[in-house]
Amino acid sequence: MPGRPTASRRTVLRGAALTPVAGLGLAACGPGGGGAAAPATPTAPVALGAESEIPKGGAKLYRDQNVVVSRGANGELKAFSTICTHAGCPINKLQGTTLVCPCHGSEFDAVTGKVVRSPATEALHELPVRAEGGKVVAGPGA
Ligand code: FES
Repeated sequence: MPGRPTASRRTVLRGAALTPVAGLGLAACGPGGGGAAAPATPTAPVALGAESEIPKGGAKLYRDQNVVVSRGANGELKAFSTICTHAGCPINKLQGTTLVCPCHGSEFDAVTGKVVRSPATEALHELPVRAEGGKVVAGPGA
C-alpha cells in the first residue's frame, strides 16, 4: 500500500511544525533575559528564611525560590508557588498580601492563593511548609 507511509509522514511533519509555536508562547512570557525558564514550583524542600519575618496576617515573597509564605490570623503558615497560573511568569511583586504578576496584571491573595484579579483563573499551587529551627522550609516533602 503505497499511500500509507506518505500519510503517516505528513502527520508527523504537521506535528513537528506545531511544536515551535507552543514553545514561542511560553518564551514570550519568560523572565526577561533570565536564561533558563523558572521551574513551576520548587521540586524539593527549600530553606527560605527566618520564620519570625512573617507576621500574623502577613506574607513574604521569596523571589529567588518562587515561593510566597503567608501566616493566617491563627498563626498557621501557608506556602504557594509564585509561578503565575495564567501563563507561567514568575510573580515578582507583593503588595501587602496581594501578589501582582508583571506579565498581564493578574493578582493573587498570598494568604489563600486565590485569584483576585484576572486574566488568571486558577489559584496558585499550594506547597507543603513547615518551620524548622526558626527557619521556614517549603516545597514538596517539606
Ligand atoms: S502570566 Fe499572565 S498574568 Fe501572570
